[in-house]
Amino acid sequence: MLGQYRFHPSRSKALSLTIYRSGIDDEGMANRHLLIVWHSRTNSCKALAEAAFEGAGNHARLMRADEVEPRHLMNAAGYLFTCPENLASMSGEMKEMFDRCYYPVLSKIGGRPYATMIAAGSDGEWAQKQIDRIATGWRLKRVAEKWIVDTGAQTEAEILAPKALSAETLDKARDMGAALGQGIAEGIF
Ligand SMILES: Cc1cc2nc3c(=O)[nH]c(=O)nc-3n(C[C@H](O)[C@H](O)[C@H](O)COP(=O)(O)O)c2cc1C
Repeated sequence: MLGQYRFHPSRSKALSLTIYRSGIDDEGMANRHLLIVWHSRTNSCKALAEAAFEGAGNHARLMRADEVEPRHLMNAAGYLFTCPENLASMSGEMKEMFDRCYYPVLSKIGGRPYATMIAAGSDGEWAQKQIDRIATGWRLKRVAEKWIVDTGAQTEAEILAPKALSAETLDKARDMGAALGQGIAEGIF
C-alpha cells in the first residue's frame, strides 16, 4: 500500500529497461502502463488527473472516461480512476465507462492494481464506495489509500464555479501518479 507516493529518480534507469523489455502495444504504449481515467465537470478531477499523469511521465496514458473502451483497460497494467461525487454517486460519465466496459473485461484484469482520487463538496464516500465495489467485482487490488479531495463546494454558486486546487493537493496527485506509474512499470504490485 502506497502511503506517501514518493518517487525515486535513481530507479529511472531500471524503469526504462523494464519498459523496453515489456514491449509496446498497438497504440504505442508500453505494455506495463498506468491508465488514468478521469471525468470532471468543474476542473477538480481534470487537474488531479493531469497532475498524476505528469508525475507518471511516459509510464501512463491519460483518458477521459467517455473515450475509454475495454481494450484500453485490457492493455493497461493498472488504473487510477478520478471523478467527482455527483448526487451521492460517482459522476454519470464515469459510471457509463464502467457500465460499458464491465463485462467485456470481467475475468481478464483480475489482480491488477488500482487507486482512486474523488473530488467532493462535502462527502465523497458514496462515489468512493461505488468504485471500490466495481473494482472488487473486477478483482482489482487497491494499492493506494482512499483519497477524497474536499473542494468545499456547498452552495449553487460554489458548485458551479471552476475549481482551482491547492499546490499541495496537486503535488500529492503528482506523487500518486509517479508512485503508481513506477510501481506498475517495475511490476512491484
Ligand atoms: C450535480 C452535482 C451534484 C453534486 N453532488 C455532490 C454530492 O452528492 N456530494 C458531494 O460531496 N459533492 C457533490 N457535488 C460537488 C462536487 O462533487 C464538487 O464540486 C467537485 O469538486 C466537482 O468535481 P469536478 O470539479 O471535477 O467536477 C455535486 C456537484 C454537482 C454539479
